[in-house]
Amino acid sequence: TGVGVVVVAAGSGQRLGHGIPKARVLCGGLTLLEHALRAVLAAELAEVVVVVLPPGDEVLAGVVAGATGAAQGGPRILAVAGGASRSASVRSGLDALPATLRTILVHDAARALTPPEVFHRVAARVSEGAAAVIPVLPVVDTVKIVEGDVVTRTPDRAVLRAVQTPQGFDAAALLEAHASAPAEHPAVTDDAMLMEARGTAVHVVDGDPLAFKVTTALDLTVAEAVLARTTT
Ligand code: CTP
Ligand code: MG
Repeated sequence: TGVGVVVVAAGSGQRLGHGIPKARVLCGGLTLLEHALRAVLAAELAEVVVVVLPPGDEVLAGVVAGATGAAQGGPRILAVAGGASRSASVRSGLDALPATLRTILVHDAARALTPPEVFHRVAARVSEGAAAVIPVLPVVDTVKIVEGDVVTRTPDRAVLRAVQTPQGFDAAALLEAHASAPAEHPAVTDDAMLMEARGTAVHVVDGDPLAFKVTTALDLTVAEAVLARTTT
């Protein structure tokens, strides 16, 4: 297929506050990582999946091993250790990919309920020739730019989009962007920003409300409600 997927799952989940890595938190009886891997496998587009885990996490290593067993005839699935930031974890994942891929998708395990259609839309746009593709949703809240406790500007909401994952890239372009980026850059929160910084056009496709990121306790409650709804 020429498609590789990096699933970053090495975060600690501070905002969720369960005291264990977020990918290990249960939702409807399965870990968030299990949900995320099911979604990646259901999309059926990867030839290799690299899952980036908190270093030394045996529970999540077991989850990856289980997914490998379940994916008979499916993609090769491997686990690697992540780093201190999301971008460091993405880099660990990229380093483990074979050099032969045409397309790389980078996905947050925390977007555990992302529908396969989002993967398809992103990958399709990349194979149509876009070097960088992100799934987006319209912004529902009015967004203010604030300095101190004072609003300095209100951007026109009509031009704003909230960004989800999987983000899709031409493999060579993404690897080049990472190779020439400074090692750590707190303001660079995703790979699309690296591409933007190089002047590469980043294209958007429709995201999906179900691709929301489980960040807080409320998000986990929503995810559980979604699972209860779709399994009855
Ligand atoms: N991530 C990662 N390595 C890190 C930090 C984050 O692989 N050092 C991953 C997370 O596992 C998650 C995704 O990046 O799938 C998005 O990050 P976020 O939602 O911020 O997860 P956490 O960093 O775990 O959560 P928090 O910021 O609340 O601690
Ligand atoms: Mg984080």
